[in-house]
Amino acid sequence: MADNFLEKKYEETFGADAKKKVVVKRNNPSLETLLHRNRSHRGFDSGVTVSRSKLEEIISVNPLLPSAGNRQTLRFRPVTGVEAAKVMGLLRFGAALPELHLPAAGEEPKAFIVVCSTAPETRFIDMDLGISLQSMGLKAVEMGLNALIVGAFDREKLQEVLDLPYLPLAVLAVGKGTDTVFLKPVREGESLAYYRREGVHYVPKIRAEDLLV
Ligand SMILES: Cc1cc2nc3c(=O)[nH]c(=O)nc-3n(C[C@H](O)[C@H](O)[C@H](O)COP(=O)(O)O)c2cc1C
Repeated sequence: MADNFLEKKYEETFGADAKKKVVVKRNNPSLETLLHRNRSHRGFDSGVTVSRSKLEEIISVNPLLPSAGNRQTLRFRPVTGVEAAKVMGLLRFGAALPELHLPAAGEEPKAFIVVCSTAPETRFIDMDLGISLQSMGLKAVEMGLNALIVGAFDREKLQEVLDLPYLPLAVLAVGKGTDTVFLKPVREGESLAYYRREGVHYVPKIRAEDLLV
């Protein structure tokens, strides 16, 4: 005999011998899976629109994060629609592959999170910034999207274009990534420059055993 309310109700309705419904558990990807999927994409599917509310959902991870001195100086501007094209015009993608002029025409991201700080940049604010960008990237991946951290842009110009009260420190481009990215384990001292071959984007990563000092 069932001893909790829901099970009792189930038995009353379907009989004690009735087969219980199979509950399909949501497949929660491990941290390692999310980290693997969280690659830098520089091409995005123009058929997938990222709404402002999706950007706000990504931004909402921030109150869960550590912050040096718990100062929480970071502020976020979600950007979609007509403003997105203006932002894209100020960003530089894939500096190591200048001949490709990334993103390719028609593959530009159309949603961005611009990250500012209410206080002048310091070592600790930069640490907060990294934690925030990576956490938001992981959230995007969990939502089936991808993100690219962008540091190469004219800060004053972007502040002016978006009429921001603070200087922007970084931008996260968000969308459904279209790049095929492979991580290539390398030894300490080998080239770390990412490259493309036959449509595949390779990212050299130093093996874990070589990271120990
Ligand atoms: C702080 C930071 C700034 C970055 N700025 C840019 C940028 O301005 N443009 C760009 O195309 N990629 C940028 N990237 C992405 C890196 O190039 C990318 O992380 C690196 O190539 C490794 O690829 P992965 O992220 O797939 O591991 C940045 C990444 C970080 C962490």
